[in-house]
Amino acid sequence: MTTTAKSPKDALDKISEEFAFNTKDVKEFISLFHLEMARGLEGGQSSLKMIDSFARRPSGSELGTYLALDLGGTNFRVMAVNLRGKGEIHVGATSRYSIPKDIITGKGEDLFNFIASKLGAFIESGKLAKDKTYALGFTFSFPVKQTGIKSGTLIAWTKGFSAEGVVGKDVVALLEGAMKKQNINCISVEALANDTVGTMIAKCYARKDCDIGVILGTGTNACYPESRISGLTVNTEWGNFNKLRQTKFDLVLDDASNNPGLQLFEKAVSGMYLGEIFRLVALSLIDEKLLFASSKLARSAFEVPYSFTSEQMSSLAEGTFDAKSTSLSQMADEDFAVMVSMAKIISTRSARLAAAAVASLALWQDPKMLQKHVVAVDGSLYEKYPGYKQEMTRLIGEVLGGHAGNISFELTKDGSGTGAAVIAAVAASEHAT
Ligand code: BGC
Repeated sequence: MTTTAKSPKDALDKISEEFAFNTKDVKEFISLFHLEMARGLEGGQSSLKMIDSFARRPSGSELGTYLALDLGGTNFRVMAVNLRGKGEIHVGATSRYSIPKDIITGKGEDLFNFIASKLGAFIESGKLAKDKTYALGFTFSFPVKQTGIKSGTLIAWTKGFSAEGVVGKDVVALLEGAMKKQNINCISVEALANDTVGTMIAKCYARKDCDIGVILGTGTNACYPESRISGLTVNTEWGNFNKLRQTKFDLVLDDASNNPGLQLFEKAVSGMYLGEIFRLVALSLIDEKLLFASSKLARSAFEVPYSFTSEQMSSLAEGTFDAKSTSLSQMADEDFAVMVSMAKIISTRSARLAAAAVASLALWQDPKMLQKHVVAVDGSLYEKYPGYKQEMTRLIGEVLGGHAGNISFELTKDGSGTGAAVIAAVAASEHAT
């Protein structure tokens, strides 16, 4: 891959052009997004799965302690969540566990046994009152075809997971099976939720005007309440949207991934992939002697796939980048400046694409943009990447002009977990009546 540029400045101009997503592109993006949404909702061929989540909106007065099991990346959490009514949520005991790589890519049975064993450890740790049965909300942040509020089959793994024997299976049944084997009898799984749905419902507990839930972290996705058809919250699985222009770097990344042709929007936007795009751009500039021209070691610092991360890009943007983290002990000022610009180009495209997708969901619900729309967002890209939120807001302004103020983003930290507890509370009360 080359840029055929004559100087670093020329190369950056070319890369910037390639990654550009301008106002005209955004308009086309929104039309295509709406077309795919309509097809997905009708059950036709579409890159947007538009999955019914079965989750009902809370009243905000649900009360009690519920458990949440939040699995969506290499870490998972168990949380005790106390709903106090009047929209107030208190997060109690929380345990975080990291899942070893061989379990993520090993056998599904081992993955669920591992999760159940940690759930057992959480209970044994004395963090919960004994002799009680707890309702649990299971956040499982992968594309799942929900068949009910507490059942659903995995369509495909994303974000580097590949545990065998799970695709096509009911993930709640797998969890319950593993819990049974470990004699965990004091928990009843009441709800299965995607993290976007959890995030939106967590915000809805306090605010009725929240109608979009977004995750911008390791992966990306969004949900919204579909009033035109089902009246229920729809998990769009927008990470799989595929009507977007790919650069040569995106094509190489996709080709080498474990799910080629899938999750193309996610591969251009989410934290798991931004560092890899950066690495591929860096390699092409190094090969053209436009970056680290004086260092023989530079290439080896960028040779291992996924060795450069979005966190490192973030630290470039923040000015806290540690050159040693790339095994390049020193870096010339010019090289550093090129790396900062590369990070800016790649993260700007990500933020603009994400904001265009948010605008698509708002316009779908309210084509004239006459109402307020609170967007509940969680994920480290949105929360921590310097300038990311601002870039999203800028794009919303470009597209919606005077109506842009009707969209407000609200960081909803831990929403994926607390929201699952709220969904479990609503579901448990429905079962009880
Ligand atoms: C998954 C979604 C999830 C998103 C954010 C994607 O890879 O397909 O279900 O909501 O990541 O975690």
